Amino acid sequence: MSLEAKIDYTNIPKHIAVIMDGNGRWAKQQGQDRLFGHTSGVESVRSTIKVARELGIKFLTLYAFSTENWNRPKEEVDGLMDLLVQSIANEVDELNENGIRLITIGDDTQLPRNCQEGLAGAREKTKDNTELTLVLALNYSARWEIMEGLKKIAVEIENKNLTSEQVNEQLFESYLSTKNIPDPELLIRTSGENRVSNFLLWQIAYTEFHFTDIFWPEFRKEHFLKAILDYQARERRFGLVSEQIQG
Ligand code: FPP
Repeated sequence: MSLEAKIDYTNIPKHIAVIMDGNGRWAKQQGQDRLFGHTSGVESVRSTIKVARELGIKFLTLYAFSTENWNRPKEEVDGLMDLLVQSIANEVDELNENGIRLITIGDDTQLPRNCQEGLAGAREKTKDNTELTLVLALNYSARWEIMEGLKKIAVEIENKNLTSEQVNEQLFESYLSTKNIPDPELLIRTSGENRVSNFLLWQIAYTEFHFTDIFWPEFRKEHFLKAILDYQARERRFGLVSEQIQG
């Protein structure tokens, strides 16, 4: 039986988040520089978006650049930014034709000007699409996001627009960059690293994790389907007992 035939189409996650990891190690294995790994990773991004859309996943979040990634050698950071600008320019029409909306999370004001402009154009062009929302996490870190939310709430309290009694989970979520996006049911990380690395810390409270040894540039439909099958084999209890879920 093919992997596709094993998928339960009544139990497709609404939101899948991916930590794309292993570009550098994969490139090294090939005797190439790190940037070659990132460039090759774009094909995995394309493949993943295509499969997500085909399966009817509504939100796909990709961790493309973390706040910590600025500490990499300048050449690599510049290369990644150029790759991003180029990829967005190349893909925006195809995203749009396929009904895909692009949004970003993270502090994009720190990105190079041409990158900010490219992203703003792509967000605007695709804003009415409803098939799939592609969420690119760029200059993102979850602790930054949580602190930003906290600061905004503190200002609202200072200005007497809110009282501390009104602060609850629901209100807090509305101050995060992921407001209006459901929490991911599944988080995938490639390259054999079993860490969360400051990604969506608030949102993954009940998320299932799938770790694979595959390096990101090798990640294709087969690996994505395996991750979803792994998810579908689990029972999500949200703190309840099994009988309560089945009943
Ligand atoms: C992690 O591999 C990957 C990144 C930091 C960047 C991911 C970027 C892309 C796949 C390309 C562009 C993306 C889009 C959305 C067009 P790593 O460098 O940490 O690998 P390593 O752990 O082996 O060193």
